[in-house]
This record gives sequence, C-alpha cells and structure tokens, in this order.
Amino acid sequence: MASNSHQNVTTTTRKENNAKRKTTTTRTTTTTTRELNEANRGELLRDYLRRCLYDKSTGYFNQNGQSPIGKIGVDSGEASLPFHLMADKEEYTETLAQKWTQLGKQWLTPVEIFKPHYANAIARYLIEETKKNHTASLKVIELGGGAGTAAVGILNYLRANEPQIYESMKYCSVDVSEVSLSMQHDAILKAKHENVWHRTRKPVDVTMQKCKNTEESWREIVQKHMDGSTENCFVLGFEILDNLVHDKVIMSVKTGDWMQARVKREREGKDRVEFYEPITDEEIKRVLDKVVEVRKSLPIWTHLSDAVKRMFKKRDVSSTADLTRNQTIYLPTGCSFALQNLREFVPGHRLVFADFDALPEAKMDGLNAPVVASQGTGGKTYDRNSYLEGVVGSSDVFFPTCFDTLKLLNENKGIHLTTKEFMEKYSERGACETKTGYNPLHNDFSNTRFYLS
Ligand SMILES: C[S@@+](CC[C@H](N)C(=O)[O-])C[C@H]1O[C@@H](n2cnc3c(N)ncnc32)[C@H](O)[C@@H]1O
Repeated sequence: MASNSHQNVTTTTRKENNAKRKTTTTRTTTTTTRELNEANRGELLRDYLRRCLYDKSTGYFNQNGQSPIGKIGVDSGEASLPFHLMADKEEYTETLAQKWTQLGKQWLTPVEIFKPHYANAIARYLIEETKKNHTASLKVIELGGGAGTAAVGILNYLRANEPQIYESMKYCSVDVSEVSLSMQHDAILKAKHENVWHRTRKPVDVTMQKCKNTEESWREIVQKHMDGSTENCFVLGFEILDNLVHDKVIMSVKTGDWMQARVKREREGKDRVEFYEPITDEEIKRVLDKVVEVRKSLPIWTHLSDAVKRMFKKRDVSSTADLTRNQTIYLPTGCSFALQNLREFVPGHRLVFADFDALPEAKMDGLNAPVVASQGTGGKTYDRNSYLEGVVGSSDVFFPTCFDTLKLLNENKGIHLTTKEFMEKYSERGACETKTGYNPLHNDFSNTRFYLS
C-alpha cells in the first residue's frame, strides 16, 4: 500500500507504515447459485462487501484461516511500547514504523499499540458508570474484538483493581470471524480469564437481520452468557464500525433522483462493475433520510468545503453515462442493522464505540468513501482505486463514521467526543507519555472519536 501517502503528521489509519501485508492468493472457484445471481442481477453493495469481508473461508477476516490483525508481544496484556523511554514524537513514530515492518502481513490498531493503557481507560469508564448505578454488577458484550487485546486488558484491570466487580461480571465476545474468535479465546486462556469470559458457539455477523441463525446467536448471547438480562449491559466496539458493510447511492444532477448501487460481474475473470437503479431497498431509503437530515443541519461552510474538495477529486462513477455529474454517498446500512439488532435482542444496553471519523486519503469519491487496502507484490501494501478490483476477499475495505448520523440512527441518544477528550478523562495520568511530554494516546489517531450512550 502507498503507506507513506497516509503518513501525515499524525496516524490516520490502522494501515499506517504497514509495509507488508497478506499476498493475494489465487483460488480455484466453483460457480455457486449466488455467483450466478450476481452475474445476472448483481447484488446490493452491502451484500457484495459482506462476501469480500466476512465470507467464512475467503472473506478478508478469514482468509486462509489467518488473521490480518497484528499483535505486539505476548497475550498477557503487558505494555506494547516503552513510551516513557522514548525521547519524543519522532522516536515514537520510528519505533512504531519498525513494529509494522516486523509484523509483515498484519496491521495494528490503537488498542494494541497503546496496550494496556487504552483498555485500562475503557475499564475506568466502565467502573465509573457501574458505580453511578450503585451496583457491582457489570455485563459486557464486545463486538469485533479482533485479537482479544481489549478484552484481556479490561479484564486484567478489573481483576487487579475491582475484584468484587470482576468476580461476578460477565463478558461475551461476538465476532464474524472464527479466526478472530479463536485468537480471542487463546488470549483469554493465557491471561486466565476463562471464568468470566464467553464467546458464541458460532461466528456472528452483527449486521445480519431476520435470519434464524442470527436470532439464535443473539438469544445464546443474552440467555446463556448474560443470564437473560441486559439492562445497563455495555456493548463495546473498537474499529468495528469501519468494517461494517455499507450501501451506496448516487444522485443524478440532471434528474435529481437518488439511485442505489448494485455490483455485478459482466465476464468471468474481469473486474466487477457497479450500476445504478432507482432505490427499492427500504433500509437504503431510511438511512439516506438520516444522512440527509444530518447534512442539512451542518453549518454552511461544511458544504462549501465539500464542494471544493469534490472539484479536485476524480469521480469514481463512470459506467452510467448520463450520471457523470452526481453526488455520491456511502450509507452505513450495516451499522443501522446492527443497532436494530441490539435494540431488539439486548434491551437496555449502552454503547461504547471508537472509530475513524474521517479517512482523508480515500481514493474513491463520495461522502464517507472507504479506503480499500490490499497486498501487492514484494510484501508491499497499496490502496486500490476501488473495492471492485481484484479477487474478492483480498482487500480490507474500511469506512469513516459520521458520528452525528450514528447518533441519529441510535434514536438520537448518546454523545460523541474526540479520542483525546476521552483519554484525557479516563486514561492514567502520563500513560504513554514520551520524555518531551508528547502523548500519542492523546494526540496520534487524531481522526478517531468515541461514541458513548
Ligand atoms: C479492525 S478489527 C478491530 C479489532 C479490535 N477491536 C481492535 O481494535 O484491535 C475488526 C474486527 O471486527 C470484526 N468484524 C467485522 N465486521 C463484523 C461484523 N459484521 N460482525 C461481527 N464482527 C465483525 C472482525 O472480524 C475483526 O475482529
């Protein structure tokens, strides 16, 4: 990936410095019914992305039984990086760059880079909120726990500092990837938290709705692992919103109509193409209304700055001749489904999400356009021009989150704040500080926010 192009003053994506990533593998394919449908009618963008990211053998998070999520050191939760021994920001950046290079095919997230301090801050927030309710009872469901670093860190902190809460608490990890779930299980066993930690029997896609397996899984989570009650249960998700599937709409300037995007493959062996049709999908309509509502409420200068940015960006829509001048919006339909599932199956829950609020380097055009990061030859990663390129499952596709839209989708509940604001309040004083006082836990990843409800 053109990692250096992402390397601004601050870290803006988890792919930063990632010089080597998973190599694209050639796979023999058999034609399934789904692929035949895809060839004829195509599929909504979210269904295509679901295959790209979550397919249980070829999806990005399961490819060849390997995880793209990197770890530093061992699982017991000790510090990733010796921040206090580093002179300054330059040394931090240099040390982190070396870690990325050593990892080769995998990338790192803030939870891992700032281990254990990031998780400690979350634990401190959970403790404070639990005590406000005058109770020692704590229930946690973590969505998309990756390598299990947040779970181990939070549970280590609670065991050491709040044994009374720890002894009676319940923690359940939910993930779409069996590879991730197995990593989480291993990390938990090494840190000896198996008495309070559980995982679902099968992987769960939190964006899937109205499907027997998904309903069974949510019931398993609540009945078996949360003792049947979820009032004030905390649902955590760190860098999962960005990987939730999205849809896309474009508006023809000529007609003023919004159209939904579908993806299809015209010929075997060729890249897929996107085409547009009038919106028929109810969820796309619903989420588009929310996004438009949020856009209307933004100050005028936001729209002006967006218009200027658009003038300097190449359009990614080319296959529909009369739609060459258009507006493009990526819609968080996957997130919307996940929130609906939580409302239905986990009543009374509270949310703690952290994710990117902007990805300025995205090569695709459009509001909330994703970065598509893939593995090139010679161990180098690069950003693709589109998720339509290459073998399905060979790229990470991740989107920025509009936190105002997230709030609106969650019945206008909760607040969002910068990572710096959250960490200044909840991290231990001086945690991750270098000798000059530069603190990357507060100041790096400046394009990320927390949402708390
Ligand atoms: C970028 S990783 C973040 C891992 C970890 N939370 C961290 O911050 O290091 C995203 C995680 O979310 C999981 N995931 C992505 N989409 C999901 C979905 N629809 N349902 C459940 N898990 C999902 C992936 O398998 C992966 O474990």
